[in-house]
Amino acid sequence: MRRCSGSLGECATMHIMAEWKFTLPGHVKSSLSSMYHRIFPFWVRLRCIASDFGDRSPSLPPALLRFRVSESFSVGQFNAIGEGCAMQLADIACAFGVDILNAGVALDFGCGCGRTIRQLLAKTHSTTFIGTDVDHEAVAWCSSNLAGASFFTNEMVPPLMFDFASFDLVYCISVFTHLDERLQDLWLEELFRVIRPGGILILSVHGRNAHRSLPEFQIQKLKSYGILHLTSKKLLGIVPEQYHTTWHTEEYIVSRLSAQSKVVCYRTIPDGIQDYVVAIKK
Ligand SMILES: C[S@@+](CC[C@H](N)C(=O)[O-])C[C@H]1O[C@@H](n2cnc3c(N)ncnc32)[C@H](O)[C@@H]1O
Repeated sequence: MRRCSGSLGECATMHIMAEWKFTLPGHVKSSLSSMYHRIFPFWVRLRCIASDFGDRSPSLPPALLRFRVSESFSVGQFNAIGEGCAMQLADIACAFGVDILNAGVALDFGCGCGRTIRQLLAKTHSTTFIGTDVDHEAVAWCSSNLAGASFFTNEMVPPLMFDFASFDLVYCISVFTHLDERLQDLWLEELFRVIRPGGILILSVHGRNAHRSLPEFQIQKLKSYGILHLTSKKLLGIVPEQYHTTWHTEEYIVSRLSAQSKVVCYRTIPDGIQDYVVAIKK
């Protein structure tokens, strides 16, 4: 196996709670925190309704679907991130001799409301794109609004509905950044099942720039285990229950992909929050 290495808001309440961290009694902090976790999803839904009244173009997913993938109400950010990810995918695939605009059959695993796939669909009809996600509302929106690709819902755990070796390319943008270790292991095995031998798997993971936002004791935990999965109730009712935040070290994710790959490459995005890992299936 050859290895190489190369070069995504909190509201004011949260800040106030952080400042009170050392002065408030435990039961008060816990009541405030539980109040915050009830109010935040409600506030998100209200903001989404307001946003849909404002700048909703018919070609855009509703604000709640956009929020689920971007944690932002900004249309500009939704478009810019999608475009950026599509460009990065194209560059990475190209480095492995694959033109993403003419790549056979490609799977966008965890496609959400199509933030990335819509950008690729706008550029090509030569690659057959398929998107899957657990979010049936997002999948329904993509099916009705994004021409040129097919979309399916999958369960939180494998399998996918596709046969062995169905895809030339599988990519997952900001999906493994949310799954716990057990789900990741299950999904890696399943994704390798549906990729053909010699086909490419491209995953985004939180890179070093994202690690810096963690407190020191969590960085130490990440370094010693290779993976850190932190749960939060903040988005309960907005995103799936098992959806939290995960960080990996380069060594950990590369070694997880190695057994089924002939090449694994970690690609750092210097100014980015997420890096990429690329594997060529044996
Ligand atoms: C941050 S969003 C990214 C969406 C999309 N990849 C993009 O770049 O806009 C993460 C997506 O992973 C999806 N997801 C989480 N767990 C999943 C699973 N077990 N199977 C499929 N999709 C999953 C979520 O529903 C969500 O749409």
